[in-house]
Amino acid sequence: VVVTKPLVGDAWLNLLVQADCRVDQCLDESHILSATELRQAIGQRCDAVMGELTEKWDADMMECLKAAGGRVYTNVAVGYDNVDVAAATRLGIAVGNTPGVPSEATAEMGMALALAAGRRVVEADAFMRAGKYHGWLPDLFLGNSFYGGTLGLIGAGRIGTALALRMARGCYMDVVYYDLYTNERLEQWLRETGELYARQGERRLQVRRAETLEELLRTADVISLNTVLDASTHHIIDTERLRMMKEDAVLVNCGRGGLIDEVALAQHCRQHPRFRAALDVFEHEPEMVPDLKKLPNVVVVPHIGSATVWARAAMCILAATNVTAILRGDPIWGRRDMGAFIQGDTAHSIP
Ligand code: GLV
Ligand code: GLV
Repeated sequence: VVVTKPLVGDAWLNLLVQADCRVDQCLDESHILSATELRQAIGQRCDAVMGELTEKWDADMMECLKAAGGRVYTNVAVGYDNVDVAAATRLGIAVGNTPGVPSEATAEMGMALALAAGRRVVEADAFMRAGKYHGWLPDLFLGNSFYGGTLGLIGAGRIGTALALRMARGCYMDVVYYDLYTNERLEQWLRETGELYARQGERRLQVRRAETLEELLRTADVISLNTVLDASTHHIIDTERLRMMKEDAVLVNCGRGGLIDEVALAQHCRQHPRFRAALDVFEHEPEMVPDLKKLPNVVVVPHIGSATVWARAAMCILAATNVTAILRGDPIWGRRDMGAFIQGDTAHSIP
């Protein structure tokens, strides 16, 4: 089993060792492995790879893995836009990811970013460190209030749902979501919370599915991207859609960088100082459009949405389980929506 990055905890390794796997780990954590380096890592013989989301696991790389006898590739990540699942399927290579376990941590990061951007925490921290605080002022670092505002979710899956519950229950925000599917569970949870709050004399929360993306963009105070990146969502936020948002909206992206046209975003943030963006992900990681880091109304962090000790260790365990299940011919462990999710494998069914 080739592991392309240092991982978290040792439970994942114990799982592989117990399954009689020999583990080859690339311990250079300083850069994204190139195609040449990935080929070298695969070598002559490789049954399985545990790779990461900034590596390109395209058709050529899958051919290379197949030639080495590979049977399974798993991302140590929930997103798998870096993997050519169709090519893997054609070659009989199972593809796994790690859904479920990072959802709560990622939602917490979404909330942290929304509050940090809306309340200007990063700007204010820099101000303090620079010794610029000379006494309290009524108009120092005025930001957005969240209470009673509207959260707009683009994508109401596991992570979006977890974020909506936090923002609605914690900040008393209404929720409008844009998704292919109605999320009955989210709607019911928020209706129940809304009734409870109303009984307590608080405002009643509203939740609804938007008919159109435009309607969401025009009404939300905080907009969060929690959808997969594919051809249908690439640059779903562009110049035109940024212009539909409120002038002081907060845009949060803990999904994938390619959901936003970064050049358009930088320009929009420059032209609208009261607009705020908080980004965990970038289209061409580790790069970002240089303008973004010059703007005070932009908060940037290095793709750490799921970076809690528990979530990352659990993702590593799930990825290792994807490998051992396929290599041993076990049924896949976990539920489709919460556990190991193997795609593209014809020989194994998903319970
Ligand atoms: C992180 O971005 C993941 O997809 O798990
Ligand atoms: C602020 O600290 C206040 O007392 O209003």
